[in-house]
Amino acid sequence: MNGKNGLHPEPCAFVIFGASGDLTKRKLIPALYNLATEDWLPEPFAILGLAVDKLTTESFRASLSTDIEGFLGAKPDPDIWKNLAGRIEYAQGNFKDPAVGRALAQALKTKGFKNAVFYFAVPPTLIGPIAENLGQAGLMDQAQGFRRVVVEKPFGRDLASAKALNAELLKIFDESQIYRIDHYLGKETVQNLMALRFANGIFEPLWNHAYVDHVQITVAEELGVEHRGGYYEQAGALRDMIVNHLSQLLTLTAMEPPASFSADAVRNEQVKVLGSVRSFAEDNKRCVRGQYGPGALDGAAVPGYRKEPLVAPDSSTETFVALKIFIDNWRWSGVPFYLRTGKRLARRSAEICVEFKAPPVLLFQKAGVDFLSPNQLVIRIQPSEGASLSFGAKVPGPSMQIGQVDMNFRYEDYFGKKLVTGYERLIHDVLIGDATLFQRADMVEAAWSMVDPILEHWAAEKPRFPNYNAGTWGPREADELLARDGRAWRECGENPAP
Ligand code: BG6
Repeated sequence: MNGKNGLHPEPCAFVIFGASGDLTKRKLIPALYNLATEDWLPEPFAILGLAVDKLTTESFRASLSTDIEGFLGAKPDPDIWKNLAGRIEYAQGNFKDPAVGRALAQALKTKGFKNAVFYFAVPPTLIGPIAENLGQAGLMDQAQGFRRVVVEKPFGRDLASAKALNAELLKIFDESQIYRIDHYLGKETVQNLMALRFANGIFEPLWNHAYVDHVQITVAEELGVEHRGGYYEQAGALRDMIVNHLSQLLTLTAMEPPASFSADAVRNEQVKVLGSVRSFAEDNKRCVRGQYGPGALDGAAVPGYRKEPLVAPDSSTETFVALKIFIDNWRWSGVPFYLRTGKRLARRSAEICVEFKAPPVLLFQKAGVDFLSPNQLVIRIQPSEGASLSFGAKVPGPSMQIGQVDMNFRYEDYFGKKLVTGYERLIHDVLIGDATLFQRADMVEAAWSMVDPILEHWAAEKPRFPNYNAGTWGPREADELLARDGRAWRECGENPAP
């Protein structure tokens, strides 16, 4: 089977900087394995891992072979894995050393690879030095074939640093060579947002301020910070989730139909949404932050954030954010978009809920029928991926009573395909040169422009943390943010069948 739109990638080398880290074994190798099972990898294809750790090709392959089953969640097919593992090599080196760049250039030449993808699975401080090294070694010259780089988040820690990083990369690479990855865009359900909106005639006419009351976007996690306290202390939920994943969900929900599905046409529309977001500079009442204290999840006690490893005992880092966003454009004038994300919340659930306005004349209420629940279109990103539309229906019986019912679509009931991590689709897109699902420099900067004033407000005031218990839906202020508008957060998750 060929890949997206029948495109099969050209022969290529896949070079991973920071290959001994978590990302390689957790996501990249399992995704490459899944691509191999679908015959979506190029031929010839080679994976070259680079890191400072003292490993050999044999020991690197051996540790990946041990780990693959756990991260795939299934036993790999022995033949497919053997074939893929045989293409993996490892080289030890310091990325700042120009000799590493030269050796890499030589290795690609010897192996006959004209095309190459360089994956930066490294901390942000190493992005610049690696880019410089690639440039100096002539590795980004595309005279013979394509040369692309994939950059993982975090992409800066505020607007100024994101701009500086973009400028640094753009000194060496052309924008079209840079693939800034956001794994949310690889999720089938996130891409389904575009299908739902633009492959159907029934939703788009209602998708505007005349019919939509408000939109809620929730990405709730049960997990705490686990072993990532060191990173998270510097990041917090705003930088870790809002500036990237939730901004993507926001723009895909709110954007205008693109003129085509070309990378720039889609991304132009996304960036326009961010450009229309009303500034938080004058208004810090539309943003709420929280940090979890001790609590319980699934009946087990869990510690508060300040007791997590590598976290300061008086930490001011937020593990929860709720925002009320206005998109001041023609389509969305006056429609609030409520965003929330947090760790150690009551349930793992990511979803977008579009709540429609009530009918103009409330005939049934006039006749004494109980309050009608609003129509909601809920796109469930995870878990129980799918979508549902709720509406009112008559309850059978002699009196007129209206009950809420759901039309529910579950991915697992259709298409017979297992949803994968998201990296498969994104890596394949890099291999075929489709940047639609990757962030462009201006998108990254527009997202930072949105959150920079919030960071400033928060830096000026010490929060009273912790302010929510682990295992709940976040701080009281997040509920009040909606209650002030006469609204409430939707109880996330798939509605149980009656
Ligand atoms: C990552 C964040 O980008 O996304 C993590 O750094 C977060 O803190 C994760 O847990 C959530 O991703 P997913 O796919 O599990 O929803």
